[in-house]
Amino acid sequence: MPYRRDAHNAQPLCFACNGLCGFHPADRRHRVSKTSFLLHSECAMSNIKSLFVTRLYHAALSAHTSAIDPDELEASCYSIAEDDEAGQQWSHENGYPGYTSYASLDDLPYRFPIFADLVKCLDAHVAAFAADLQFDLGDKKLALDSLWINILPEGGIHTGHIHPHSVISGTTYVAMPDGASAIKFEDPRLAMMMNAPGRLKDAREELRTFTYVAPKVGDVLLWESWLRHEVPMNMSEEDRLSVSFNYGWG
Ligand SMILES: [Fe+2]
Repeated sequence: MPYRRDAHNAQPLCFACNGLCGFHPADRRHRVSKTSFLLHSECAMSNIKSLFVTRLYHAALSAHTSAIDPDELEASCYSIAEDDEAGQQWSHENGYPGYTSYASLDDLPYRFPIFADLVKCLDAHVAAFAADLQFDLGDKKLALDSLWINILPEGGIHTGHIHPHSVISGTTYVAMPDGASAIKFEDPRLAMMMNAPGRLKDAREELRTFTYVAPKVGDVLLWESWLRHEVPMNMSEEDRLSVSFNYGWG
């Protein structure tokens, strides 16, 4: 590995501070293995920061408003699924394991009052996340664009995808039996890492290429809609049940 050198091409320089620390780059205080180097910590502390971060919001659904009864929400989801023949057919024809109302119903808050209550909850969470993201929304608001039910049976998966045409997407979890899969998020820069080495197994969470989050019933997760994610196989004999949504701008 070539070292950066001083102006006379003589003295190797620390990668972080251009030699101010006085350590040779191959000094064991920099070196963590034969092939990888760690910057002198004091130099690194003054020179390394995170840019272009990806935020993930995780909260209890009841954090801002009154609680949503998970049993009533679950019963409402199954009731809708049983009646929604168009959704059943769409799921079957499109290889979606189990059931989703994604392509068939756009009026859940009008069908069951608990979904109207849920939207009030989600509005508050999305507003909090938008504040964290420091969005400049101008005179427009983030508003619910779509809300749908997902019932994923044993063996079901939902392959990697993004949510086009929206700003913030998320899911709230209605039934997560033991063995139900976590949700897996992927570094959005993955396509740019053609020749990059992998990360250490115990790399800090913010540096990992994939992140798994195992939410509990009653939790809500929010992310920016461009963030690719998937649901690995449901290893439980029982259904994994969630309600997902998109928020658009203006
Ligand atoms: Fe999704």
